[in-house]
This record gives sequence, structure tokens and C-alpha cells, in this order.
Amino acid sequence: MANVMARRADLRDLDGREAVITASHVQKSYRGFTALRDATFAVARGEIFGLLGPNGAGKTTTVECLQGLRRPDGGAIAVLGLDPARHSRELRRRIGCQLQESALPEHIRVWEALELFASLTPGGRDWRDVMAEWGLADKSRAAFHSLSGGQRQRLFVALAVVNGPEVVFLDEMTTGLDPAARRVAWALIREIRERGTTVVLVTHFMEEAERLCDRIAVMDRGKVVALDSPRGLIVSHAAGVRVVFTTDVADLAFLEGVRHVEAVRREGPRVVVEGRGAVLAHVAAALVAQGIAPADLHVETPTLEDVFLSLTGHVMAE
Ligand SMILES: Nc1ncnc2c1ncn2[C@@H]1O[C@H](COP(=O)(O)OP(=O)(O)OP(=O)(O)O)[C@@H](O)[C@H]1O
Ligand SMILES: [Mg+2]
Repeated sequence: MANVMARRADLRDLDGREAVITASHVQKSYRGFTALRDATFAVARGEIFGLLGPNGAGKTTTVECLQGLRRPDGGAIAVLGLDPARHSRELRRRIGCQLQESALPEHIRVWEALELFASLTPGGRDWRDVMAEWGLADKSRAAFHSLSGGQRQRLFVALAVVNGPEVVFLDEMTTGLDPAARRVAWALIREIRERGTTVVLVTHFMEEAERLCDRIAVMDRGKVVALDSPRGLIVSHAAGVRVVFTTDVADLAFLEGVRHVEAVRREGPRVVVEGRGAVLAHVAAALVAQGIAPADLHVETPTLEDVFLSLTGHVMAE
């Protein structure tokens, strides 16, 4: 009964949209070590849904349970209405999974890899169309090892979608990429969604989650600790305003008495004033009254990093 209630609560987050995935209190232990204590969330059709958390949070374990690659010890999962642990074959035809780099032989040609993957899931799309869509037609005869990083990435995406999946799982797709290649990958991920596929994106990059995802489940130590849109997470968990400037003036104790100021600290040459509401105007006025007029006085808006810190009490980067 508790499960049913929790599941209803999460479905309500979807505002009546169709759920393609529901996970209710999913648990998984590896030889006595509890990797997953409580994964509870629902994913709506057509969204880019993020699982965000530090190393070891349980993100990969969660998606492996959703894909039917691991059997959870407790809780309930439905993906496209199926229980992945019992219907993994049928599910495999309807979902797409990103490959790890090491999973492709060096000498396989682009067209061979696509044809092979298409043959594993009959009834999917024509692999030649997928190859063209992902800009690989002129690399058709190229061996995997000769592809550039960006071309490999396109190939991995093409392989993940060659069966025309309804849901695609991308686990750390952009890890190890330089910033330019990461942006290309983001565009590819948006393109998958524009073609109507639901995307479950596992990442530990805050910026990536913030820019790409419609909603994010924040995971820490085996639990989903918050679930909302990036903006919603920031509004509920990091609502404060941060006023930042640089100055040579050593004694800034007067700022602590300024209206709306909650804390003042130095970060190297920067002074960071935490506060609420109209804190910027009051800090500016107080500084000017003391003869201090920093040219770089500005407000920094909170990020998912602040959300994570406020939810868990620790920073995400180890
Ligand atoms: N096969 C396994 N046997 C034992 N422990 C495991 C196994 N797989 C994962 N774990 C442990 O479970 C925890 C969660 O691992 P998981 O891979 O799900 O984390 P993650 O959030 O994907 O981390 P990362 O960001 O590093 O990929 C970790 O502490 C990990 O060491
Ligand atoms: Mg992982």
C-alpha cells in the first residue's frame, strides 16, 4: 500500500502526462553493500530526465535496473508498462542503450556496426537512414579506430537509436569529452528528444543537467534526495542571493549589520555576501557610504551545485 501511495505521488509530478518509467522505492545491494536505498521517480514521455549525483551515488545501478540488466532486491519498476526483470527481451526491442567505448572492435566499420545492431532488433528502422541522420554516411566504410572522438560519439548515439527506441538511456555520455565536443553531444541529445524519444541522462556534470534536462532526480548515497525542474530545484533549495565583489579594504565587518545580509566571507580576492531579497541594493548603498565602490559588484544566481550542497551538506565534486 505504501508503494502505491508513493507511486501516485510521483505520477502527480507529471501533470497528467503519460509515464514511460515509474520506479518506486527501488533497492539494490551488492553482497551486503547497499548501493541503492530508495530510488523513487516517474519519467514522462518525451522528456529529458536527468539522474544527477556524485560518483557512487547509485545512478548506474538505477539505470541498469531500469534496463533489466540487474534485478532489484526491493521496490517496483515499470518501463513502458513492463517489468524489466521479467520482460527484458521485449523491453530490449523498445529501449536504446548507449554503448561503452570498449564494447566495439577496433576494425569494425561504421556500416557494419549499424547493420549488426539493427539485425539484433528486427522491426526497427533502416540503419542507412539512421546513419545519414547522424551525419555518418560519408564515414560508412571507416573503421571504428579511425573515427574522431566526435564521430565515435555520433556512432554510439546512432547505435543506441537504430532500433527506433521509445526510451534511450545515456550513461555519462559526455565524460572525457572536451567542452566543444560536449556541446556537440548536447545538441545530439536534444535532437533525439525532438525525434520523439524519451531520454534518461545520467551525469555528474551540474551544468549539463541544468542546460539539458526538463527534470532532474538528484541522487546521493543511494537515494533520490530531490526531484524537480532545474529551476524548481534552485528556487526550492537555493533561494538565497549572493552578492560578489572584489576590494582591497580589509575590514568589512560593517556589512554584517546591513539589512538582508546573512553571511559575509572572503574567497581569495572576492568577497561573497549571502543574503535574501533586496540585499544587492542595501549592500551597494552600505559600500558607497563607506567610500567603497567596487566596479565588479554583481549578483551570482544559485546553481545546482548550491542545491546539492543545501540538500546533502556536502559538495558534489570529491
Ligand atoms: N557489481 C558491483 N559489486 C559491488 N559493488 C558495486 C557494484 N556495482 C556498483 N557497486 C557499488 O555501488 C555503489 C553505486 O554504484 P553506481 O555505479 O551505481 O554509482 P554511480 O552513481 O553510477 O557512480 P559513477 O558516477 O561513479 O558512475 C558504489 O559504491 C559502487 O562501488
Ligand atoms: Mg555510473
